[in-house]
Amino acid sequence: MDRAMRNGPEGRESGQPWVNRLAASDNAPFMRHLGATLKGQIDLVYVDPPFATGFHFSARVRVGESGREVVVPVYEDRWVGGMAGYLDMLTERFRSMRELLSDRGSIYVHLDYRAAARVRCLLDDLFGADSLINEIVWYYKTGGMPERLGFGRKHDTILYYAKDPARAIWNPQKEKSYLTHRYGFSNIAIHEDERGPYTWVNCRDVFDIPALRGNQPERVDFPTQKPEALLERVVLASSHEDSIVADFFCGSGTALVVAERLGRRWIGCDASPLAVHTTAKRLQAMNDVRGYEVIDEPRTDYAVGVSLQREGAELRVALTSVEPEGVDPLPESVRHLIEHWSDRVDWWEVEWRPHRARPRQDGGRGLAQRERDTRFPRWLSQRTRQRRVLELTSAPLSLPSGGGLVVTVADVLGNRCSIYVAL
Ligand SMILES: C[S@@+](CC[C@H](N)C(=O)[O-])C[C@H]1O[C@@H](n2cnc3c(N)ncnc32)[C@H](O)[C@@H]1O
Repeated sequence: MDRAMRNGPEGRESGQPWVNRLAASDNAPFMRHLGATLKGQIDLVYVDPPFATGFHFSARVRVGESGREVVVPVYEDRWVGGMAGYLDMLTERFRSMRELLSDRGSIYVHLDYRAAARVRCLLDDLFGADSLINEIVWYYKTGGMPERLGFGRKHDTILYYAKDPARAIWNPQKEKSYLTHRYGFSNIAIHEDERGPYTWVNCRDVFDIPALRGNQPERVDFPTQKPEALLERVVLASSHEDSIVADFFCGSGTALVVAERLGRRWIGCDASPLAVHTTAKRLQAMNDVRGYEVIDEPRTDYAVGVSLQREGAELRVALTSVEPEGVDPLPESVRHLIEHWSDRVDWWEVEWRPHRARPRQDGGRGLAQRERDTRFPRWLSQRTRQRRVLELTSAPLSLPSGGGLVVTVADVLGNRCSIYVAL
């Protein structure tokens, strides 16, 4: 989806309009690439890197209309050299994040008990121990098995550093504090909701925010997905509307979805194509999402069949076939769940363009051509966890004269292919 359109205020990159961006890449080369134009310009970095768990993480992917599930690996949290190798990997990356942060910038690093203490030492060295503003405890009440030994582990640690504590953006946030007793006379306003009486207090460094449950609409079947409410607090507290917010280990894109909803500019990156696919789907499903660019490897070769149906001044586009041209990008474990060719498709999109996209120009690692200026007419059908039906014929589209259509198809693992149909 080379989709990058009008997007908010002017950026600070060589006078070009700003374009939000999502990269399918190892974040180390990607951040080096960003350093050429965005050094000192990012106001907020939130990262939720692997935690040195020693686990393989996989996601449940639903295939076709039946929604039958297959388990697909997403990322490995094992490190050559163990903890030392893990810390080396992070050190290099935190250096790049520090370079990208503005003078009013902050970084929030999300960890658990395994790595928090060691990563704190590393961040103290890089940012200065005085720049640690909070060691936030995100406390949740998930169920699960009791520990064989010890108390139930029900919190994560988020280390929050300001690049320059004297200049950092800070917007105080309030939370409800429920009253267990009434302490006689008080001039503080007491409110009441279904949980009982409460007062508004400044947010504390212990965040009591529920973890995601299985039936919550925001859940997208991505392992380690964090709740939007958690990211909302972070983004509201440490960024302004003109800020750039970045998550370089974005997973299912929670930070980016929240940044988009709150009108921030954003940059996301993840090394897993399935994570980028999941993020892109979450963004697509948002109402009136602003244009963004996906930066990724060359496309998959699919032969995509479409037919055009004119209805007066309007046009419908029908997707008639999607077949691999050569090696099938889907593994056998997914292929055997495909009964009809359309089961392979997770979403497809039609977008009008005034002209065929020019060849890639940016010279960066797989940077896609940018179409910067306009939001073009488009139509999308996507399968979601709740709604498995894919519409194979678009709604009637009213299009400007001339130009052509870019039809993009993504398979269930996020392999994408675009074709251009001249009108
Ligand atoms: C804990 S998950 C992030 C979850 C995310 N906060 C969410 O709400 O969905 C960590 C992510 O880091 C990604 N990752 C690991 N190493 C990476 C690297 N070198 N560059 C980019 N992404 C990486 C993994 O693919 C995984 O999606």
